[in-house]
Amino acid sequence: MNMKLKTMLLGLSVMTALSAFAQKPVYLDTGKPIEERVKDALNRMTLEEKVKMIHAQSKFSSAGVPRLGIPEVWATDGPHGIRPEVLWDEWDQAGWTNDSCIAYPALTCLSATWNPEMSHLYGKSIGEEARYRKKDILLGPGVNIYRTPLNGRNFEYMGEDPYLSATMVVPYIKGVQENGVAACVKHYALNNQEFNRHTTNVQLSDRALYEIYLPAFKAAVQEGGTWSIMGSYNLYQGQHACHNKRLLKDILRDEWGFDGVVVSDWGGVHNTEQAIRNGMDLEFGSWTNGLSAGTRNAYDNYYLAFPYLKLIKEGKVGTKELDEKVINILRLIFRTSMDPYKPFGSLGSPEHGQAGRKIAEEGIVLLQNKNNVLPVDLNKTKKIAVIGENAIKMMTVGGGSSSLKVKYEISPLDGLKNRVGSQAEVVYARGYVGDPTGEYNGVKTGQDLKDDRSEDELLAEALQVAKDADYVIFFGGLNKSNHQDCEDSDRASLGLPYAQDRVISELAKVNKKLIVVNISGNAVAMPWVNDVPAIVQGWFLGSEAGTALASVLVGDTNPSGKLPFTFPAKLEDVGAHKLGEYPGNKEELAKSKHRGDTINETYHEDIFVGYRWADKEKIKPLFPFGHGLSYTTFVYGKPSADKKTMTADDTISFTVNVKNTGTREGQEVVQLYISDKKSSLPRPVKELKAFQKVRLAPGEEKEVTLTVDKKALSFFDDGKHEWVAEPGKFEAVIGSSSRDIRGIVSFELK
Ligand code: GLC
Repeated sequence: MNMKLKTMLLGLSVMTALSAFAQKPVYLDTGKPIEERVKDALNRMTLEEKVKMIHAQSKFSSAGVPRLGIPEVWATDGPHGIRPEVLWDEWDQAGWTNDSCIAYPALTCLSATWNPEMSHLYGKSIGEEARYRKKDILLGPGVNIYRTPLNGRNFEYMGEDPYLSATMVVPYIKGVQENGVAACVKHYALNNQEFNRHTTNVQLSDRALYEIYLPAFKAAVQEGGTWSIMGSYNLYQGQHACHNKRLLKDILRDEWGFDGVVVSDWGGVHNTEQAIRNGMDLEFGSWTNGLSAGTRNAYDNYYLAFPYLKLIKEGKVGTKELDEKVINILRLIFRTSMDPYKPFGSLGSPEHGQAGRKIAEEGIVLLQNKNNVLPVDLNKTKKIAVIGENAIKMMTVGGGSSSLKVKYEISPLDGLKNRVGSQAEVVYARGYVGDPTGEYNGVKTGQDLKDDRSEDELLAEALQVAKDADYVIFFGGLNKSNHQDCEDSDRASLGLPYAQDRVISELAKVNKKLIVVNISGNAVAMPWVNDVPAIVQGWFLGSEAGTALASVLVGDTNPSGKLPFTFPAKLEDVGAHKLGEYPGNKEELAKSKHRGDTINETYHEDIFVGYRWADKEKIKPLFPFGHGLSYTTFVYGKPSADKKTMTADDTISFTVNVKNTGTREGQEVVQLYISDKKSSLPRPVKELKAFQKVRLAPGEEKEVTLTVDKKALSFFDDGKHEWVAEPGKFEAVIGSSSRDIRGIVSFELK
C-alpha cells in the first residue's frame, strides 16, 4: 500500500476514533435511531412474545424476548429510595444483604425546599441507586394534589399547589432518567385519598381537573419527558383510571403527546376490553391467583395475558392496540436497559447520604420562633431535654410501598447527641408511646420500643426531665403506621395521636424554652400553638434525619423551607370537608355492604383547594401555604413591573429588591401570585405562578426578577375546553408566603 494511502487511512481512523470519543464509543454505537430499532424488534416478535411483554411475569418485572436478546423490564419502588429486593411473587423482601439503600426525605420535604436544584440532586441520586440495582423503572415520583390533610399518602407527594408540584417534579424526572432509568409519575389521576382507593369514583369539573389535578402530570410529560406514568386505583367518570379513555387516550396521548409507557398500579386493571382499547400498556400486580388455580404461571391469568391472547386468536380483537403497547414498551427498553451509554450508578454512597442531608436541611420549615428561642445556643446550655417517641423511632420502615431497608437512619436524638457532643448533657424521656412496632414487608427496624408504662407515668418522667433543662425539644407528630402517614388508610382526624397535645401543653407549663418538632407528612392541629415558642415542621427526612434536624436546631443551618400545603386550624376550614364529599357520598357509604362497592365522590370545592379555599372564605390558617421563617430577616423593596400593559404574546417581568437585614446568611423564597381582578368565571383570589429562592449574606441585597407570560394569567374555560387569558386588570402579588404579602403591582392585559 503506498505511503499516501497509508497516511490517509491513518488520518481517517484517527478522525473516527476522535469523533467517537467526542460523541459516543463507536463500538457501542448502533447508529440506528430508537424508533427504527423499535420497529425492527416489533417485526421480529411473535404474537405470544408480544402478549407476554405487556403484563407482569413477577411482582416487579415483565417479560423481554430472550430469543431476540431483548431484556426483561424491572420496576422498583419507591419515590424516597430503592425498595429492597422482593421474592419472585411476594411483597416480602428476599433477604438480600447488598440492597440497603439511602433513604431520601419524603417528597413533601423536597417540595418544601422550593428549590428545583434540590429536585435535580434528588432525582440524580435516587436514579443512581436504581441504576446500580439494575432497575429500569423507578415507581415515582408521586404528584397527587393535597386536597385533604387526612390523606394517608400526602407525605409521598408535593403539596396543594399545581404550579409548585409541576415545577418541582420536572428536575426530579430528568435526574432519574439521566441514569437510563425511567421515572414513573404517579398516580394518574385523582388519587387524593387512601380511603376506598380502589372503589372511589371521583367526579369533578373540567376546570378543577385541568387547573388543579392535571398540571403536575402535564409538566411531567411535556417538560420532564417522563418515560412512564402510573394509572391510579380510583375511578373517574365511572371508569378505572388504569383503563380510562379520557385520561389515557384523549388527554395523555392526544392532548399531551405522551410517548412513554402507561403502567398500571398493582391490581389496578379490572377489565380486558377496556385495558386493550383505553391505553393501558403494562399490567402489573393484578392479584395473581397463584393458589387455587394451579396454573403454571398465574401471571398468565392477567387481564392483558391469556384472556387477551384468546380474544385475538378467536378473531374478536385485532392486534393494532397490541402493537401500540409493545412499541411503547420497546421504546422504554431502548431508553433504559438497552441504552449502551447509560452510567453505572452507585448504591448507599457517602455522596448519596450527603445529598439526602442537604435536601433535608433545605426542606425543614421553621413555623414559629417567638423570642428567638431558636437556634439553641450551645454556649449557654448545660442540659437539653429531648422528649417524644419520634426522637427515636425509625421512620424509613413502614408507610406502604415507599417503605425501605436503609443502610442507616440517624434518629433526631442521635443526630442531636452527635452534634452536641460534650458541650451539653442531652437527656431523653419517651413522653408518650405511639407505635412500638417496627416491621414492614419483612424489613425489621430492630428497635425495641415496647413500653408498658401508663400515660401518666410517661408524662411524669418527661416533666421531671424537662423542668430544669435549658431547652426542651419535643419530637412528635405522626408516623408510618395505619391511619397515620401510611398507604391504604387515611387519618381519622386532624389532631395529633397518642395524647401528644397533653404532653406538649404540660411541658409548656414547666419550661418556657420548649421547641416542638412535628415529624409528619401532613398538617396537624396545634391547640397549644400559643403556649409553645418554637415550632419546626420536621418532615420524614430519611437516612440523615437526625443530622439535618440537629443542624437546623443548633443553627449550623439557617432554615429556608416553605410550606407546600396549608396548615388549617381545623378540618372545617378545608373545602373538601366543609362542602364534602370526603371520604365519599354519605348515602352510598351508609348503604354499601362491602368494600367492593363503587362510591361516588364529588369534589364540590372544585378549584378552591388549599390556600385558594382559605383566600376565598377569608379563613386564617394556622400556618399558610408558602410560610417559613428564617434565623435572619429579609426586607423587600417596592416591587415594579417592566410594563404597565402586556399583550397576549408578551411576557411581563416583576422586579423586587430583597435585602438580608439580619446578622447571618440565609435563603428566602420570593413568591409571585397572580390575581385576576375581573373574570367571566369564578377564579381564586390569587394563584402561585412563579417563585425564586435566593441566598443572601448579611446585609446583602439582590434584585429578584420573576417573569411570566399569558399562561400565568389564564384559566381553563371548560365550556370552550381551552385555556383563556381574559383582557383586563391583574395584580402581581409578591410575598414571603401566601399571606405575608410584601408588595403588589397592578398591570393590564390588553
Ligand atoms: C402500590 C402503590 C404504588 C406502588 C405499587 C407497587 O399499591 O399504590 O404506588 O408503586 O403498588 O408497590
